[in-house]
Amino acid sequence: MYEKYKNAVVTGSARGIGAAIAKKLASKGINVVVSDVLDEELRQTAKEIESIGVKSLPVKADVTKKEDVEKLIKTTVEKFGSIDFLINNAGITRDNLSVRMTEEEWDMVLNINLKGTFLCSQAAAIEMMKNKFGRIVNLASISGILGTPGQANYASSKAGVIALTKSFARELGKRNITVNAVAPGYILTDMTVKLPDKVKEDYLASIPLKRAGTPDDIAEVVSFLISPSASYITGTVINVSGGLLI
Ligand SMILES: NC(=O)c1ccc[n+]([C@@H]2O[C@H](COP(=O)([O-])OP(=O)(O)OC[C@H]3O[C@@H](n4cnc5c(N)ncnc54)[C@H](O)[C@@H]3O)[C@@H](O)[C@H]2O)c1
Repeated sequence: MYEKYKNAVVTGSARGIGAAIAKKLASKGINVVVSDVLDEELRQTAKEIESIGVKSLPVKADVTKKEDVEKLIKTTVEKFGSIDFLINNAGITRDNLSVRMTEEEWDMVLNINLKGTFLCSQAAAIEMMKNKFGRIVNLASISGILGTPGQANYASSKAGVIALTKSFARELGKRNITVNAVAPGYILTDMTVKLPDKVKEDYLASIPLKRAGTPDDIAEVVSFLISPSASYITGTVINVSGGLLI
């Protein structure tokens, strides 16, 4: 990891993939501000990170609220001195067939997954530009490339995250800020545990590597993307799906 750059924010890091990313970065010596709407779990994650031996701070923030996001970035800079890495991980699903999908289901998913990623990236980029360094990694999904039945809202939000990643990468490259996305396939978390058994079986049957992914499979790739080894990579989407998408 970089000697000089040590401070990360991971959104949606109270549990699941976000918590795994936060712990992975901590294990590489990075201080992590963890952020989520789930207060209690968030504090628990922060404690676990501190026990790894780096600084951590839980900041409750809803990524759809500009004032929350600005407070999150401001607190990070005040307490840690800079924001060097931003991982936009907060995300939800509200699955329904397109013809039955409510406006609320559409708005909620687009707001959290896409607008939230935009607001956090914008606020962080302003700080990163001052330091002439930054690494942003967005959690997309193979749904955003393939489209998925029952997930018109989710797939559209993740396709938007991919386009947002590329647009920010083009704008911020000259400031030494890279912006990349990871597109997970079927990963075992609270988000996927509620899927119908038939859907889970179909996923497993279609995955060439014959297993579901773990949060750690994703955390490893995020850790690579913010490392010096990936300093010439920007605007990419890395597919981490065990071959579900080839
Ligand atoms: N699990 C999978 O199979 C899978 C596949 C592809 C992509 N992803 C993406 O990975 C990311 C993490 O998903 P996960 O599987 O760990 O899900 P998860 O539900 O376990 O975790 C998501 C976290 O985001 C938080 N969150 C929700 N709304 C928020 C808001 N408005 N502001 C701040 N935080 C909020 C939740 O409280 C939760 O802690 C998501 O962006 C998801 O779309 C997951």
